[in-house]
Amino acid sequence: MCLISLFATLVSLCSSGVFGATEVSVSVSVSVMKGDSVTLHTNVSELQSDDIIDWMRKDNLIIAEVKNNKYEIKNNTPTNGVPDRRFEGRLELDHKTGSLTIKNITSQHEGTYILDIRGRHLISKNFTVTVHDVVELVSVTEGDSVTLHTDVKIQKDDVIQWFGNQGTLIADLNSAADSRWSNIHLNYETGDLTIRNIRRDQSGVYKVEINNTTMILHRKFNIIVGAAKTVSVKEEELVTLHTGLTDIQRFDLILWKFEDHLIAEINKGTNQFIVCENAEVRFKGRLQVNEKTGSLTISGSETTDSGDYHLNMSNKMCTLHRIISVTVKGE
Ligand SMILES: *[C@@H]1O[C@H](CO)[C@@H](O)[C@H](O)[C@H]1NC(C)=O
Repeated sequence: MCLISLFATLVSLCSSGVFGATEVSVSVSVSVMKGDSVTLHTNVSELQSDDIIDWMRKDNLIIAEVKNNKYEIKNNTPTNGVPDRRFEGRLELDHKTGSLTIKNITSQHEGTYILDIRGRHLISKNFTVTVHDVVELVSVTEGDSVTLHTDVKIQKDDVIQWFGNQGTLIADLNSAADSRWSNIHLNYETGDLTIRNIRRDQSGVYKVEINNTTMILHRKFNIIVGAAKTVSVKEEELVTLHTGLTDIQRFDLILWKFEDHLIAEINKGTNQFIVCENAEVRFKGRLQVNEKTGSLTISGSETTDSGDYHLNMSNKMCTLHRIISVTVKGE
């Protein structure tokens, strides 16, 4: 009995690297929002009793450690005799995995965190943490279709979670969507979230959290949904279709289409500003695009100008599609 159990222990020691040292060394970039709670993962599924863990700041100041099955968070270790209270009440150490959570993070907590595990597991990791406060403002009109981009190249095993304006999980790349909102769609290739035919009660702050072995990325989008306006004019009057922008610089590409025909394009990348009048003979000489706002004006409107106008605006953070129905009434 004893022999077998000793043998089994030896085998498990060998295979887990104490004698052969298969050390894991990883750098993780962490970019999160002010006020977030972020977990720096050891990626150990279960610590063994002989594992020793040090969590350190770059200056080698230990902020948390595990030794002889004892877990300790050092909340205010003095630096040069001055207590450092930056972490007070904000750190949590997971007893099963040794992962460290920093709650309510602020710019004071930016910098490099070093994880060092010795024992049954041999792991060293560097986490470079940056904290930002930029909320992407997305101003839309009810009925628009809005796509929020992850703006990262998605790889297998990435964890991507979207949280809605109530703070609850609304889409998860790795599990079936548990969505009360039937107008939400997750793109499994890009991780992008699309809200089709957006409603006014869907205004608010949305958040995406992306996790993989080398990256933690949190982003927020503040979607403001304004009331839809119908456009109805009399023949010969001016029709102005608004983008709602004060500065078109925010978008890389703006397209105006009438039914299926491209009638205007503003392309920041190629610096092009095109009114495609030839594509639609009927608008000849009557279209104008505002260089500041991207809004489209049709002069001398005719009843045949009635119909659906499509506006597409995109940048690397989001894409927006709007349909504006125009009615031009005859005398
Ligand atoms: C988060 O930290 C800030 C100060 O950095 C504090 O004012 C705020 O009350 C904290 N929020 C929570 C929920 O603990």
